[in-house]
Amino acid sequence: MEAIFSLVSMYAREGLLLPLKEGDICENIRDFCVWDEGEVLGCAALRIFSRELAEVRSVAVHPKAKGRGVGTSLVAFCIDEARSMGLRKVFVLTKSPGFFAKCGFFEVDKRELPHKVWRDCIMCPKFPDCDETAMMLYIK
Ligand SMILES: CC(C)(COP(=O)(O)OP(=O)(O)OC[C@H]1O[C@@H](n2cnc3c(N)ncnc32)[C@H](O)[C@@H]1OP(=O)(O)O)[C@@H](O)C(=O)NCCC(=O)NCCS
Repeated sequence: MEAIFSLVSMYAREGLLLPLKEGDICENIRDFCVWDEGEVLGCAALRIFSRELAEVRSVAVHPKAKGRGVGTSLVAFCIDEARSMGLRKVFVLTKSPGFFAKCGFFEVDKRELPHKVWRDCIMCPKFPDCDETAMMLYIK
């Protein structure tokens, strides 16, 4: 939990990820997967919204592990998990659309996402002027 908090907070300070409180991570720890080489070097979370839809969020790779496929593997793990639960679609809201395009996501209109997706956004300092790109992947 501490490692996830530290990774997410580092990128939240750069404005790349939404900040998470330690309590949020603790409550949702089962959503997370980590990349562990004796030290946790990456994390990602899969949050389920409905029978069909989940979100991949909080994808973070430590600077010393970037460019080695860790981020792609974590996202692929989340998608496999979504598939194993019978979900049909996974979305992201991201400032790194190029990375998610490489993971198979494509850009969609934010209005295509259901209302309850926005429950976290009210906490965001940028609300309602969201500068993230919405992207979707249909699970095969
Ligand atoms: C984005 C991030 C998760 C990528 O992790 P990574 O382990 O370095 O990614 P990978 O090594 O799996 O890269 C896969 C591909 O995506 C590309 N890529 C990585 N980051 C990218 C970015 N920000 N924009 C565009 N392309 C990117 C890589 O060049 C690579 O392309 P290639 O296959 O042609 O070589 C990582 O840089 C990070 O933690 N960034 C800060 C937090 C963030 O922006 N998270 C995503 C939003 S939820």
